[in-house]
Amino acid sequence: MTSSVLVVDFGAQYAQLIARRVREAHVFSEIVQSTITAEQVRAKAPSAIILSGGPKSVYETPAPSLDPAIYELGIPILGICYGAQLMALQLGGDVARTGAGEYGRTTLRRVSTSRVMQEWPETLSVWMSHGDAIAAPPAGFVVTASSPEAPVAAMEDVSRALYAVQFHPEVAHSERGQELIADFLHHVVRIPATWTNTSIIEDQVAAIRAQVGEERVLCALSGGVDSAVAAALVIKAVGTQLTCVFVDTGLMRKNEGEQIEETFTRQFGVELIHVKAQDRFFDALAGVTDPERKRKIIGELFIREFEAVARELGEGGDGPRFLVQGTLYPDVIESGSGHAANIKSHHNVGGLPEDLSFDLVEPLRSLFKDEVRHVGEELGLPAEIVWRQPFPGPGLGVRIVGEVTRERAEILRNADHVVVDEIKKAGLYRDLWQSFAVLPAVRTVGVMGDGRTYAYPIIIRAVTSDDAMTADWARLPYDVIESIANRLIREVEGVNRVALDVTSKPPGTIEWE
Ligand code: XMP
Repeated sequence: MTSSVLVVDFGAQYAQLIARRVREAHVFSEIVQSTITAEQVRAKAPSAIILSGGPKSVYETPAPSLDPAIYELGIPILGICYGAQLMALQLGGDVARTGAGEYGRTTLRRVSTSRVMQEWPETLSVWMSHGDAIAAPPAGFVVTASSPEAPVAAMEDVSRALYAVQFHPEVAHSERGQELIADFLHHVVRIPATWTNTSIIEDQVAAIRAQVGEERVLCALSGGVDSAVAAALVIKAVGTQLTCVFVDTGLMRKNEGEQIEETFTRQFGVELIHVKAQDRFFDALAGVTDPERKRKIIGELFIREFEAVARELGEGGDGPRFLVQGTLYPDVIESGSGHAANIKSHHNVGGLPEDLSFDLVEPLRSLFKDEVRHVGEELGLPAEIVWRQPFPGPGLGVRIVGEVTRERAEILRNADHVVVDEIKKAGLYRDLWQSFAVLPAVRTVGVMGDGRTYAYPIIIRAVTSDDAMTADWARLPYDVIESIANRLIREVEGVNRVALDVTSKPPGTIEWE
């Protein structure tokens, strides 16, 4: 069995970041709630435990605590920030409400040798975010570092394998942070670095085979990374039992359908049902301008199309029993219980009807997005799919303001292709969260050659973001904007003007509808 680390979540986003850093050190990590008991920990048999930071003070009521019997299990523990303070308090040390606190960069000074900070310089810059501070370590602990406002910025009790740091080694601003995590895992606990893309693939392939047996499996491909990687894993496991469905809504990006056909039919040789439903989507959207209405129509029609395929496959009684979903680890964690019960309203497959009762195959449910991309690469998916920016379920439909028609979708698809192509040429594609074109519902006057034109403007939308919850408009270089604008007007029929969206989120949203 793969060695694993339990990351105990004391709130905020720190636990996810720690879990990712552990995996970057090639050790599997799992996030657990702070209510976990010693018995439950023992059942999971982790090689080590990391206590995360959190937004509370240990003196607040209620503040999350930890079953103290966990310290007695003999499993090495690293406490970080809140986790460090809690460890100090629970084991008999003293945590003081100094009122001074440290937020941001501060200087860490080493005061004695440390097993997790071996060969570190005497001082270095780390990132802190704390109001309280450990004033006195528990009996048995040695103080290994201090900072201006934290006399005990790091402490350890080697005999009990308990380590604690007040700073945040998981954030990039902490010098040697990743090294501390890796050293704790590899040198102190001696966990081998075996969590790799290859091991992920082997584990998942075995799990899929065990789950589906000889049954048939259905997968809806969206053109996005998650469904493609999930499908590729299922193909590797039980390829001949899989049927993929790609519903072309007419609102996909340029060449998306061809790319999927090429990859899944020709490269992977899997059965692919390509539903060319463009006409039905455009008919249903005719005359509709309200954004929510458009979303609803697209979502419902998608389900109907998918359902029709599923029912057809099911005729005769030996239809697919399993449905592949590209649920990722953050969705599982955010559902709180560690069991994402609902089918993710992922892509257009938002809420499949209940009478289509599938069992779910979720081969990505323990993976973070960056791991999914790397697994996809290792499985041989083309970079174009693996590194694709997020694309909304309703597709170009939420970027066409006003009525969605075949003609307007074609203008936007061509414009979007130019924007993305130039962004890629400039080497910016992977640095941007999203970059695309928007088609507003106005036309403007222009002049081209000897003639007057009356055509659509295109708006360039490019944002940076970590999670789409907030976003900043991307400061694209002027020469990139210029080449996008020149090509849009020269190459895309129906376009005579280009504008740039300089709205962040909030107050704007990333998409226009
Ligand atoms: P907004 O526009 O709300 O978008 O800032 C945030 C992120 O979500 C994507 N998005 C959607 N994804 N169905 C989806 O699957 C939708 O209806 C939808 N609307 C927005 C958007 O592309 C961005 O990444």
